[in-house]
Amino acid sequence: MRILSGIQPSGTMHIGNYLGAVRQWVSAQNPEAFYCVVDLHALTLQIEPERLRDQTVDCLAWLLAAGLDPEVCTIFVQSHVPYHSQMNWLLECVATYGELSRMTQFKEKASRQEGYRVGLLTYPVLMAGDILLYSTEEVPVGDDQIQHLELTRDIAERFNNRYGETFVVPVGVAAPTSARVMDFQDPTRKMSKSVASALGLIYLNDEASEIDKKIMKAVTDTDNEVRFDWEKKPGLSNLLEMFASFTGETPAGVAERYTRYGDLKKDLAEIVIDALTPIARRYREIRADEGELRTLAAHGAQKAMDVAGPLYRRAATAMGL
Ligand code: AMP
Ligand code: TRP
Repeated sequence: MRILSGIQPSGTMHIGNYLGAVRQWVSAQNPEAFYCVVDLHALTLQIEPERLRDQTVDCLAWLLAAGLDPEVCTIFVQSHVPYHSQMNWLLECVATYGELSRMTQFKEKASRQEGYRVGLLTYPVLMAGDILLYSTEEVPVGDDQIQHLELTRDIAERFNNRYGETFVVPVGVAAPTSARVMDFQDPTRKMSKSVASALGLIYLNDEASEIDKKIMKAVTDTDNEVRFDWEKKPGLSNLLEMFASFTGETPAGVAERYTRYGDLKKDLAEIVIDALTPIARRYREIRADEGELRTLAAHGAQKAMDVAGPLYRRAATAMGL
């Protein structure tokens, strides 16, 4: 199965990235799977150049620590494969301003800043290129990216109709549970690196005591009935989903076993600590050998070029270049 997905090197990975995306990547990895650290996408944010370089290497290390195996799948950095930028231009001449300006993520991010970059608007086109360059069949992502996947499908179909069959039309696949992990302090808001309240999100490198504190202090309602109900009990439902996605139960099944919020939180904290501690330990080992990480990225880029190059040339030729 040809798979591709990406993650921005915009800070330490959080539990939403892990449960919503990266854990799916690990279980789906195969010789046809491509996973990409999307440093070009991170340029839509204000980020110091040195920091971006560092975080790109960090992100590679987190992916390995979470269980991706470069012997099994291909792991690479987006900017190392120039076809991504080149494909972006071709697809910018297929996508329309109207469809890009309707994207929820664009509208949200643009409303939070003055003089936002054009890249914020065209961001999903670059992402469509990432996916289409690899004849991708499935794209494992968190729920917030599903709209971008719909756009990718539209762009691929339009291109194929206009210029002849070139691209595979991919499908986006969200995780069955925890596809949208919410902020612990504001469960109506997605857990996110960019809008972080100190207690709102768990980073993969948080100390056990911090994880414990964040979960115990997570905002819940006051009626004290343990029940899975996103409408009326978003805070509690967020915790139940997280619990279920670690244990393989259903969120409602977990709810049935508890009568008190405190007991549920205590057990969840233990489960999260047990799951994340070994990942953080592996991360520290892997991150210590930066040379090895760079070699791995170079090897991944070569494998990616071999697939992306021919597809880019086909698309360019089809358009008359
Ligand atoms: P990003 O950090 O925005 O590059 O996201 C990388 C991956 O993590 C994407 O597949 C996102 O959909 C996913 N993701 C990000 N935040 C969350 C969240 N709060 N819950 C579930 N998945 C998420
Ligand atoms: N836009 C995605 C995000 O913010 C990251 C991304 C870039 C991506 N290119 C991709 C995800 C290709 C899947 C496939 O999370």
